[in-house]
Amino acid sequence: MGATTRIEQALAAAIDHVAIPGCPPRLVAAVRHAVFPAGARVRPKLCLAVAAACGYQDDPAADAVAASIELLHCASLVHDDLPCFDDSPLRRGIPSVHRAFGEPLAVLAGDALIILAFENLARCLAATPERLAPLLLTVSRSVGLPHGITAGQAWECEPRVTVEEYHRTKTGSLFAAATAAGAQVAGADAELWRIVGDRIGEAYQVADDLRDVAATAQEVGKPVGRDAVLNRPSAAGELGVEGAVERLQQLLKGAIEAIPPCPGSAQLAQVLIAEAHHIMPKNLAARVTL
Ligand code: IPE
Ligand code: IPE
Ligand code: MG
Ligand code: MG
Repeated sequence: MGATTRIEQALAAAIDHVAIPGCPPRLVAAVRHAVFPAGARVRPKLCLAVAAACGYQDDPAADAVAASIELLHCASLVHDDLPCFDDSPLRRGIPSVHRAFGEPLAVLAGDALIILAFENLARCLAATPERLAPLLLTVSRSVGLPHGITAGQAWECEPRVTVEEYHRTKTGSLFAAATAAGAQVAGADAELWRIVGDRIGEAYQVADDLRDVAATAQEVGKPVGRDAVLNRPSAAGELGVEGAVERLQQLLKGAIEAIPPCPGSAQLAQVLIAEAHHIMPKNLAARVTL
């Protein structure tokens, strides 16, 4: 079974487990709307790619970890789109959750997804508690204080932050969890892999900032030009398009150099290079020379 199928099945299983008769149907519908249709699923794919590079294949525990990381990502998007944050009407080409279901259910759907991510981990790894506790720490560290997504979004409420710190916390942290947890579930050293995810995540946010200035809403399925309107620190805004493309390449090179010795290191490097072209706005993809 390919990674995409494994991820979609693990996500559906996590939701089906709690979406049972007696549950508020509109909240369940809002939760499903936040998770399906799929976005790029880049974080769970990275998690499984690292687990595979470390020698693990077709492990249901790895699928559950990857799905939990994607559930947290989906939650972050639901909350990020709310009127009190980025006020976005569109996500993945369809109305954002608050536009489809109203603000109260969007807040609750985000909350429910965060809890579900941890419940799913606990349930799917209950048979191997020695793996569960370190994985819970890795994943919670990526979304909470002091440096997880919550901190990243909170930097928007502070008078000053560097674009690097903002990117590392709001985006890099969950990518770091994807690589660290992928290694951890495979029995490898999580700490050695954290830096790889950190750099990929920062590069990914630089690409997102480029998409915000250089892509169309149709291409990305969400509004563009928002970073300037909202006055968000942005790599494209601070470095210009050329500078941001250069920074993205440096970050990805750094990520590839940081891959620890493992059976699948060369193949993983190839996956990251291919990904560098995918994440660019179409009209800038040719600038990537990795
Ligand atoms: C959007 O993430 C938010 C960022 C941190 C850049 P993605 O670009 O991964 O969104 P989906 O999951 O593909 O919709
Ligand atoms: C959001 O960053 C990062 C999150 C933690 C959700 P952006 O605000 O740039 O992401 P988009 O552009 O809305 O997808
Ligand atoms: Mg946003
Ligand atoms: Mg953005």
